[in-house]
Amino acid sequence: MKNNPDINPLDKLPAVLKKDLRRDLCTCNQVLKIDIISAIVGGAKSVEEVKRETYATMGSGCCKQQVERLIECLCSPETEK
Ligand code: FES
Repeated sequence: MKNNPDINPLDKLPAVLKKDLRRDLCTCNQVLKIDIISAIVGGAKSVEEVKRETYATMGSGCCKQQVERLIECLCSPETEK
């Protein structure tokens, strides 16, 4: 993902995904949603990469779909200039 300073990565997320940024998305490992978003914006483009960066999904994997959805939204090219 290109880091264009004119684009706020959060703008790519639907309103429902912008909620509770400072709450655990991965409750098994107590990983905040904002930390997962930061990892994706910083270059993690797969669940494996997010896992390596943040330990999210390393519990029972119950948050995997949510992480995949964030990757899908944040890495989508159509909203980049
Ligand atoms: S909530 Fe993330 S692995 Fe369970």
